[in-house]
Amino acid sequence: MSTKSGTSHSTVFATSLADAERFWSEAARDIHWTRPWDRVLDDSDAPYYRWFTGGELNTCYNALDLHVDEGNGDRTALIYDSAVTEFRQSFSFSELRDAVARFAGVLAARGISKGDRVIVYMPMVPEAVIAMLACARLGAVHSVVFGGFAANELAVRLDDATPKAIVSASCGIEPGRVVEYKPLLDEAISLAGHKPDFCIVLQRPQAQASMTSGRDFDWHDETAKAVPHECVPVLATDPLYILYTSGTTGQPKGVVRDNGGHAVALKWTMKNIYGVDPGETFWAASDVGWVVGHSYIVYAPLFAGNATVLYEGKPVGTPDPGAFWRVISENQVSVLFTAPTAFRAIKKEDPSAEHIGRYDISPLRYLFLAGERTDPDTLHWAEDKLNVPVIDHWWQTETGWSIAANCVGIELLPVKEGSPSLPVPGWDLKVLNEAGKPAPAGEIGTLAVKLPLPPGTFPTLWNARQRHFDSYLSIFPGYYNTSDAGIIDADGYVYVMSRTDDIINVAGHRLSTGAMEEVLADHPDVAECAVTGVADDLKGQVPLGFLVLSAGCDRPADEICAEVVTMVRERIGPVAAFKQALIVKRLPKTRSGKMLRGTMRAIADGEEWKMPATIDDPAILDEITDALAGVGLPRSR
Ligand code: COA
Ligand code: AMP
Repeated sequence: MSTKSGTSHSTVFATSLADAERFWSEAARDIHWTRPWDRVLDDSDAPYYRWFTGGELNTCYNALDLHVDEGNGDRTALIYDSAVTEFRQSFSFSELRDAVARFAGVLAARGISKGDRVIVYMPMVPEAVIAMLACARLGAVHSVVFGGFAANELAVRLDDATPKAIVSASCGIEPGRVVEYKPLLDEAISLAGHKPDFCIVLQRPQAQASMTSGRDFDWHDETAKAVPHECVPVLATDPLYILYTSGTTGQPKGVVRDNGGHAVALKWTMKNIYGVDPGETFWAASDVGWVVGHSYIVYAPLFAGNATVLYEGKPVGTPDPGAFWRVISENQVSVLFTAPTAFRAIKKEDPSAEHIGRYDISPLRYLFLAGERTDPDTLHWAEDKLNVPVIDHWWQTETGWSIAANCVGIELLPVKEGSPSLPVPGWDLKVLNEAGKPAPAGEIGTLAVKLPLPPGTFPTLWNARQRHFDSYLSIFPGYYNTSDAGIIDADGYVYVMSRTDDIINVAGHRLSTGAMEEVLADHPDVAECAVTGVADDLKGQVPLGFLVLSAGCDRPADEICAEVVTMVRERIGPVAAFKQALIVKRLPKTRSGKMLRGTMRAIADGEEWKMPATIDDPAILDEITDALAGVGLPRSR
């Protein structure tokens, strides 16, 4: 296949692995360094590798000031498009730089400096981006917590990250309701052992937060009197942020991202994976609370001199399924990145895509999808209706950018349905069998990446070096275990089939069934429980709880099920989308006591399943089948 640049994916890929240090040091020339690195790849502590050791830079400088200093300060940097408040605002690179410098001044005046942690618990408003970049400007470490999490989840993160400050807002806006953040923040602070020194709160017109005197300060009052702060150089290997993601237990994993490798890799991806040029508009329709928001709403587009869209709204209902097409046409979006679930939502409400006809979406060149596998229906519907290549790409919070993708800026390869295409340059991806040996083409196994991981990934988990080793490095020595199972076919195309752990994917959000089980187990009438993901037309998967009641409990099943649903919403948050539980007499386990969640899921989804050879009592599966039938599962029956 011919390419724009004359290079082919296979050549670039081979170069990236044959001499990784040379490959990434060339990419690093695009970044502004205040001190050159001593080593491109430091392997002195393998299997913990570090990139660009000794180098110094500032991430915020590379995202904002650099463009101003290069004479591009008037270009648009950030477009805030709030469908829920019908408000639009745009910031040039100069304006955003000034706003960030001022907020960095607010934080610095209250004692924040290099290495301090700051939690950002905010809705999709420009101040969230400003707060993140202000931390980066000071060398402070931000940890953004998604607004759809409950107070308890915020408290867990407070105790782990021990921030000096929290930046928040009075409310977020979900269709049809205002979500007050401040009561959740106050509750989290009272639940947590660690207390922040201060909070900065953005008052939004839709809700007025009550402030705790001496601890809480108003965003606008503080910025009005602030002195702008300069960029503080940090080591390439210093942490830029901590982003918590679901693990197999209720204790989330704090993925650490460093400054140098992150800037190098993310800037490289904008041209090479997404095919955008400086000055163009890039839109990741996600949330700043997720990794997609960190990498592709905030950092990568700004590094690359793109305008980035911060969209506060949904694909449907704000006000209609034409919302995405409006944003594309009004902002000349060249590349849209979202999750397949957003397209399923649009397709469900507007199957023939009549709303597209109301807008000029001709600026759109590519649609990128991630967060879950793109199902063939969604792929073909989007291809038909948008008439642009639809690119599935696969990545994880841990990796920060994609492991497998069709890198349109290098070479647009044929799209194969169900596959995120080939491993991206820098990723030595293999399928390993249980013995840890590479499996032949077409054979399923664990998707694992030969170390070192490329720059921009994660050096460790915050406060949890041993957990990092146990979760990712110990099972297949010399490899990073992605915990995804998959296949690589004879053409090198990757197919990501399922997680190998108990993580489920709900509307592109990664959730821990273990964390939900911990909540259910706390109900006084629940003796035992299990949570599994079951197929859902819109969200891909939704959680389903199985409860075994304590002996002698004679309370109505409906009441108990409703109570556990409320408990999960209150303890984890609405984002868990936990809406259904059912009561069973017993739970299926192996003779060694391992819960057979996969078999329960297969029965609930109406898939073919085999009686596990190690099952303790096969009759339990008949009981499970009957209980599921009682709530209409599997749906196709
Ligand atoms: N603050 C407070 N509550 C929030 C929230 C936030 N920031 N974000 C979501 N919630 C709530 C929602 O209101 C909903 O509550 P409900 O149970 O009372 O309805 C719940 O959390 C689940 O939210 P969501 O997953 O967004 O589901 P939805 O039913 O509201 O919308 C989609 C479904 C498909 C439209 C939606 O998931 C979507 O737009 N997905 C886009 C993809 C995406 O952002 N992926 C992220 C990774 S790329
Ligand atoms: P998160 O850390 O929230 O980004 O979730 C990462 C997980 O989502 C991966 O480990 C996969 O299980 C799943 N995932 C993300 N993108 C894809 C994709 N394109 N295809 C299949 N699964 C995906």
